[in-house]
Amino acid sequence: MLIDTHCHIDFPEYNQDRGEVISRAKDNGIEYIINIGSSLENSAASVELAKNHACVYAAVGVHPHDADRFDPDGLEKLETLARHDKVVAIGEIGLDYFKNFSKAENQKPLFKKLIGLSKDLGLPLVIHSRQAEEDILKILKEEEITRAVVHCFSGGENFLKDCLDMGFFISFTCNITYKKADTIRRAAELAPLERILLETDAPYLSPEGMRGKRNEPVNVRFVAEKIAELKMISSEEVARVTTENAKNFFKLK
Ligand code: NI
Repeated sequence: MLIDTHCHIDFPEYNQDRGEVISRAKDNGIEYIINIGSSLENSAASVELAKNHACVYAAVGVHPHDADRFDPDGLEKLETLARHDKVVAIGEIGLDYFKNFSKAENQKPLFKKLIGLSKDLGLPLVIHSRQAEEDILKILKEEEITRAVVHCFSGGENFLKDCLDMGFFISFTCNITYKKADTIRRAAELAPLERILLETDAPYLSPEGMRGKRNEPVNVRFVAEKIAELKMISSEEVARVTTENAKNFFKLK
């Protein structure tokens, strides 16, 4: 059994066959799917999905890309959503200085507000970090955060070490299968299995051989297989440990 700890199946890419995508995952050994919020609207959709499907849990958050157009009134709405008992994390939140779709001066205060929300509710964080490692670590340290997962990990060895030292989980997507992803594979070799989570980030980042197509939760098995190969252990062992990690981290019942 595997858990896809990060995907976006509320997105319009699944409007025609969302139920089938969830069934296909369930029928192929995906025990749970955690659908991640990326805006207020997507967070509401994420909670709705979780209400309607026993195997789906939700996270609510606002992606740093959306920081410029985030209405401060949205925070209260987000909190109401976050109080639903199938909401297991605040995310994805963080900083993105690569695409810079929103200004850094708007990203940071939003990130801090949402960290505050996670503290109020006792929920862990799902972190998006892109070319923002220094600020991410600085803020998480200041806020004394220990329960966080760095999603779609693509950092170098130093960032990995800092994240592990702070007690964070490291999450890998299907991009670990890409030909040029040596840095990501190196991180997966170095990170202890006890601190690894698996995800697809679907609809994005389809595995090698399916690139450019829509991704879906069932493909999380490709991440497990690649990590097994890198660590020279069985896929079953990767599945067993990472599934237990996810259940403990997100407190899944
Ligand atoms: Ni995502």
